[in-house]
Order: sequence, then structure tokens, then C-alpha cells
Amino acid sequence: MKHTIFLIGILVTLLLVGCQGKHPTVIAPKVEMQENPQGIATLTPRFSWQIISNEPDLVQQSYRIQVAQTEEDLAKEQNLLWDSGDVKSDQSILIPYEGSELRSKGIYYWRVKVNTNQGAAKWSKPQFWTMALLNDSEWQAQWIGEDSLSNPNETAEGNTRLAARYLRKPFGTKDSKIKRATLYISGLGMYEAFLNGKRISEDVFAPTVSWYPNRVYYNVYEVTPLIQQGNNLLGVKLGNGRFFGMRGGETMVFGLPRLLAQLEIQYADGSTDVIVSDESWKVTSKGPIIANNEYDGEEYDARLELNGWDTPNYDDSSWKPVDIMENPKGKLTAQPNPNLRIQEEIQPIKITKLPDGKFILDMGQNMVGWVRINNLNGKKDQPITLRFAELLNPDSTLYTANLRSAKVTNIYIPAKDGTFSWEPSFVYHGFRYVEVSGLDYQPELSNFTGRVLYDKMTTTGQFETSNEIINRVFKNAYWGIRGNYRGMPTDCPQRDERHGWLGDRATGCFGEAFVFDNALLYGKWVQDIEDSQSPEGSISVVSPRYWTIYNDDVTWPAAYFYAMNMLYRQFGDVEPIKKHYPSMKRYLERIQQVSMQDYIITKDTYGDWCMPPESQELIHSKDPARKTAGPILSTTMYYSLLNLMSDFARLTGNEQDIAGYQDLAAKIKEAYNNRYFDADSAKYDNNTVTANMLSLRLGLVPEGYEQRVFENIVQKTEVDFNGHVSTGVLGIQQLMRGLTQYGNVDLAYKIATNDTYPSWGYMVRKGATTIWELWNGDTADPAMNSGNHVMLLGDLLIWYYEDLAGIKNAAESIAYKKLLMEPKFPKGLTHVKATYNSVYGEIKSEWTKENDAFTWDIVIPANTSALVRLPKDLNISVPTQKGVRKVTETDSHIEIELGSGTYHLSSKS
Ligand code: BGC
Repeated sequence: MKHTIFLIGILVTLLLVGCQGKHPTVIAPKVEMQENPQGIATLTPRFSWQIISNEPDLVQQSYRIQVAQTEEDLAKEQNLLWDSGDVKSDQSILIPYEGSELRSKGIYYWRVKVNTNQGAAKWSKPQFWTMALLNDSEWQAQWIGEDSLSNPNETAEGNTRLAARYLRKPFGTKDSKIKRATLYISGLGMYEAFLNGKRISEDVFAPTVSWYPNRVYYNVYEVTPLIQQGNNLLGVKLGNGRFFGMRGGETMVFGLPRLLAQLEIQYADGSTDVIVSDESWKVTSKGPIIANNEYDGEEYDARLELNGWDTPNYDDSSWKPVDIMENPKGKLTAQPNPNLRIQEEIQPIKITKLPDGKFILDMGQNMVGWVRINNLNGKKDQPITLRFAELLNPDSTLYTANLRSAKVTNIYIPAKDGTFSWEPSFVYHGFRYVEVSGLDYQPELSNFTGRVLYDKMTTTGQFETSNEIINRVFKNAYWGIRGNYRGMPTDCPQRDERHGWLGDRATGCFGEAFVFDNALLYGKWVQDIEDSQSPEGSISVVSPRYWTIYNDDVTWPAAYFYAMNMLYRQFGDVEPIKKHYPSMKRYLERIQQVSMQDYIITKDTYGDWCMPPESQELIHSKDPARKTAGPILSTTMYYSLLNLMSDFARLTGNEQDIAGYQDLAAKIKEAYNNRYFDADSAKYDNNTVTANMLSLRLGLVPEGYEQRVFENIVQKTEVDFNGHVSTGVLGIQQLMRGLTQYGNVDLAYKIATNDTYPSWGYMVRKGATTIWELWNGDTADPAMNSGNHVMLLGDLLIWYYEDLAGIKNAAESIAYKKLLMEPKFPKGLTHVKATYNSVYGEIKSEWTKENDAFTWDIVIPANTSALVRLPKDLNISVPTQKGVRKVTETDSHIEIELGSGTYHLSSKS
């Protein structure tokens, strides 16, 4: 399916290019990085577009943007709110609106036209965006719900149990024609809304998660087609989500679910109606979803179905008037990131019958989401139970030991004999296997559909090589990453955890950004991190801080800074850095106050987490020779944060801070080397790969010693670990790039393609279809052993793209405006084919190298350029086509500057 969509995408692009004649064309116009978004909260939304052309070397010379309140005005160029005029600039991403002031709830139409060195493009087709409800005073709605536990099995203790709340509001419309209807809605933990029996959107688990005491997100949907003249019904189902769904004790429960909804109807005669959540609504918790909890599952009693509850003519006399609920306090904020959606479906590949009559489905893939039942035959009152797990025991029963207290059980109770179809609304699972019980007969594969759930976003990267292990690991990473996008990047999707652990994503987020358009997700997550920060500046290593953990260490909080750097470097978005600069600064100061002694950052909590232990049963190594001292990790990472912060200060007009950061960094470097570096042996402390690699890659090694430190890394890896990885989640963030940068891509390649323990290939050989939490995930204690964590990927995906494919930002470039294409050629690798759909358009690199024959196909998007760098001994013939701007030869390399276009390079035959 995905591939078909991808191919269709390519065909459409080709057609577009083919049909356009000689003129360049503007495509993919976006506002705040989305197509036609609804509910924009900034008064200066930013515009981006791409250009395609069938001529090479396209450079945009100027642009012109127009904005109006109606499509007609836009077409006639009248009453324009903004006409940028011709702006001489090659900027085509994130250009801020500069017109007259935008209104709360407004709808705006816009278009863009560009002039290029190949002539002018026509106006883009008109696009639109709508504004959010910008002023708190415009909210007339109240929070409503059912403020008591009224069902026998409901409990707020331990594994919480709560029935879904159903809320309804009949309303009528005026006689006048309906021009437009917009719903502003939030429901905590999650809502599903219906107008006259129809879902208002395919979004699920809405709104996105947040730290509710500080911030509550709401969504905006245009619902005009769902409203009818006369009687209407707005119905909402509420699930627990993260609001009520957490266990008591150390985790947070915020109270019972609640709804805030405001439906605004505009009529053709200029009048309006506003339907709001208030005391006039009715509620029941006696519906079919008798329990729902993200960890434990959903129980659905079809005998309690409320047929037609979401349509106008339903008799709700047995329902109660709603309770007015306490305002959850957090600032109501228009949600900037898309909600989750089902984005793919897969079928099970096998069904096995167990001796006790239960069935085991094998989905063929460790996936995240749920299973939909299609036309199963049920018996009245006889529950069908589905349980989920990542693995099977040797006797083919479900292996659930690694799920901890999560019960992951969905139950459906049929109301009558006969076929039924069903899927849950408010729970998800991480699983490959499903146990089905309660059936009297052998079901078919087609009775079940795996529904793959994650944040709505596009896949931006494809990657394939001549090495099968690399291909498989990429695929496993692809499944693992998307399965852990749940409005925040989670650690895992299956056990009773599923939190936004910072450390797991510090460098990983950058690798992920090649494969998924994750800008809005991470942009929102860095807000969660700030919202979870303590007044003293501490960062919670789980954010949103459903577990509040202020360690005042560095390695996990570093993800806050690294993610913002990723957003800037990968997508060109500097706004998060501007917005969170004061918060980052507070954190850096806090660390100086509480964790720094004599310029060494002393506090560290997790060490080089999940490094391969000496014995395969252990979770964490006990061997001091393998472990890296905490202060080495925190001091090197803190040093990298100071350097990043100097860049951030420059980018945000905080130049006055730079000297302070640099001065402190210099003192830290000196103290660190005095304490941990032995100049005679060029080793750091106990000479772990992690200690040496972090010092090297993060820039702490005294000048002139780099190569010797590097030799220690190679020596240690080759001799002590037989060419295998020896790092945990810290060292792995720099390992692959570090080995390559300092000249041993062959060792990096060996590590990438090993299939013996410990390695990613070992996971593959042991049947993994995602990435494990532990290198020894097949043998370690189940207490901490998820089959779907992505933190051990470290910088692997970055290495795939930057070093193997040669798709990399040039030093000062952001968002691939200028590429440095310098693939590396490890021995044994003969083919790499990678695409990355950057904000400027699709970048492609496909090379083949067998013996002396080398070919390389490159695509560089319009309005960008590339510096291609290849070793001279490849003996390539330099193409003479248009777009080749300059050729330079050094002793060892040939460098070619290319404008946009498609190029074929090959060695001279
Ligand atoms: C989580 C990790 C996390 C770690 C930190 C684990 O339980 O699953 O991914 O980073 O704890 O201690």
C-alpha cells in the first residue's frame, strides 16, 4: 500500500514536471509546515513551497505572496491583506506573514508565485488556513462530564477501571443557509466526536497529550458538510487516555474525563449560532465501553450498545444531566501537531490453535495499534478475549512477562448469536501476537486486521543497500520509530510505561527525521519539556512529566537541546530555539548551581544505559571496566550543550550570552582533560569506547591527540569486543559517525552488519522486526526488556543517510539548502539507494560500486545545490551538462559543485 502511494506520488510528480512545459512550477505550498491547516495560533504564520522544473540548476530569484479573506478577492487581487510584492530572495521555506492583523477564527486564502533564473512560475493554486480561537474570552464553553464513579467495577486505584463517557447535545439550526460550521474541541483524556452519527474526523486519541496542569490542547475542525438544516446532534465519547488512565501511586491521575466543545455556525444571512458544552448536555457511562485503559485494554459489552445515541432522534431520558467539571487549568492552546491516525493495515500471516482451544494470530510484524475483528461469529453473552504480546513462549502461548502490570486485554461481549465486527476506541498495544479466546471455531486470517497507529505524518525516506542486514535493520527502525510516536516520542508501546523518556531520542530524533516528517511532533514535544520544567530550571527526564523525575543530570535533558537543533538543521525551523531559549538557559544555570564541582558535572543517573553486559542474562553490566563514569558522560554532554547554546544565542539575538558559554566551556574542557585524560596513552579514564568517543566527537580532546584517541577506540573495539559495539545509549549516539569521520568506515560497516551478539543484526537474526531495548533482548531479564525501543539506534540512521548515501547538510547549510554529498565506500558494500524528501523536495542518491566500476545517480531539488566530493581514484568522468557549476581537484579528491537537477556520474571505462 505504502509503496503504491509512493509510486503514485512519483508518477504525479513526473506528470507535473512533464506537463509544465518550460516553466518551473510551485508545488506543495504549506502554512506552518502543513497543507491547508486549521487552527493556526500564531499571528505570523510562515509559508513554504517547493519548485519543480525540468531544467537543471534552478534558483529562485524572487517570490510574491498574496493573502486575502476570500478566494474571489485573491483571484481578483482586491482587498488583499498582504501582498508581499516581488521580494528578491531565494528563500522558499518558512517566510513569515507580514500583512494586516489576522483575526481569531478567521479563514485566509493565499497563493505564491516565484521568479527564477529559468523564468517565472504561475501563481500556485489558492490555498487556505484557518486561525484558532485566539482569545480566552471567546470560549463560552464549560468543561463537562460525569463527576463520579457510577459503575460497579470502576476504580481510580491501581489498574484504574473506568467506563467511557457518552455525551450528547441536540440542537437546531436557523432557516437561513449554513455558510460554515467550525468545531473547537478538547476532551481529556481523549475524545471521539460525532455530528449526526458521523465521525467528524478520522483522527484518534485526540487531543495530543500534554502536561495538563500547564497546557491543554484543543483541535479545530471545519464540519460544515456534517451539519443539516433543522435538527442536529453533537455527540462525544470520552476515554481515559493519559488523563485518567495512569495508575495511582507514583504516576499521575488528573481526574475524571471531561469535554470542552464549542461549535460555531455561520449563516449566509450573516448571523451565527454557538453551541457549547454546558449544563444542558446529557451524559451516560452505561454504554458499551465498560472499561478502557491504555495499558490494560478495552472491554466492550455489545449488549449495552446505545443505538443511535449520536443522532438527533435518540431517546436519552435515561441519561443524566452532565456535571460541570473543574477546569483542568492548563492554558488552552490550539494543537500545533497532527493527531494520531490509523495509517496502515496489515493482515495476520498465520493462525495457530492451542491445545486449550485458544488461537494465536501472528501478525508477522511487531506492530503498534490494535486488531479489528471483521465478521467473526460470536455467541450471545460469550466474551471473545484478545490479549497481545510481542513474543511467544516455547509452547506457543503468549509471552507476557515483559509487559509488567499492563494487562493488554480487549474483551468483546456479543449481544446476540451471529457475526460481529469490532475495534476498540481508546487503547493501543505493541504486539506481534494476539491470543484469541472464546471462539468455538477456527477463524480465518481475514477475520482480523492489524490497524497501525501513529501520528499523522508522511514518510520522507526510503533506504536500501546491497546488504540485507542493513535493509532489515532499516525496516525494523521504520516500524519501531513510527510505533513509538504517540503525540510524543515514547520509550516503548507495550508495557506499563510508554512515556516520553528524553534520553532515548537525544540523537535518535535526527536520524528519525530522515524517515519521517516529524517536525511538528518534535516541535510540540519540546513544548512538553518546557511545560514540565521545574521553577528552579530542572528538566524532567520524562516529559510530559507523568512521572516527574528531576535528576539534575545532563544526558537525558540534552535531548531538549538536541531536538531543537534537529528542528533547525533538518527543517530550518528556528522558532523553537527562540521560544525555548530562556528555558534552556535556566536549565544550564541550574546544572552549574547543583551539579558542577570544579568545572566537572558530577551528577549522572543512568550511566551509559543498556550497554551490552558481560553476561547475557544481565540487564546492566556489573563490570567496572565496561562502564563509563557518570561525570564523563555528563561533562562531555554539558560541554556540547554549551557549544550548541552559543549557536542558539547567535541565532536568537542573544549574542551577549556567547562569551559566558564559551568561557565556561573552555574551563570545563581544561578541568575535564586534567581529570580524565592521560596524555601518554591518549586514553580517557578507563578507556571505554564511550568515554573516548564522546570526548572526541563532542570536541574535548586536546588538539593533536585526536587520532591517537581514535586509535584507542578502534583497538578496544577490535581487540576487546571483536569488532562489536560496546556502548550503551550514550556512546552509540556518536559511534558510527565517529568511526567514519576519523577514517575507519570499514569498522563502522562491520558493526552495522554483524549478526553476532551484540549487534542490530543479531536482533534481526533472532527474529526481531523492530529494535530491542537491550542488545541481549532475547536472553535478559523480562523486568526491563521491551522488544520495541528505538534508543539503541543511536546515530545509525544518520550514518546511513549522511555517510553511506552522502545526503548531508553542508557545514553552514540548514534544511539541505546546500548539500555536501560525500558517500563513503566501506569494503563489501556495493550498492546504496536512498531518497529523502527534504523541505525543498526530494533528494536522491543511488550508487553502485563493483571493483572499479562506479556509477552514481543524484537528484538535487530545485533552489538547492550540492558540493559533490569523491575520491580521485574512482576515476570519474566529469559530466559537462548544464548545472555543473564548478570542478576542483585536490590531491586526493575531485569536488564538483552542482545546481539542482538529475545527474549521472560514472567512472571512466
Ligand atoms: C525506559 C527507557 C528510559 C530509561 C531511563 C526505562 O524504563 O524504558 O527508555 O530512558 O528507563 O532510566
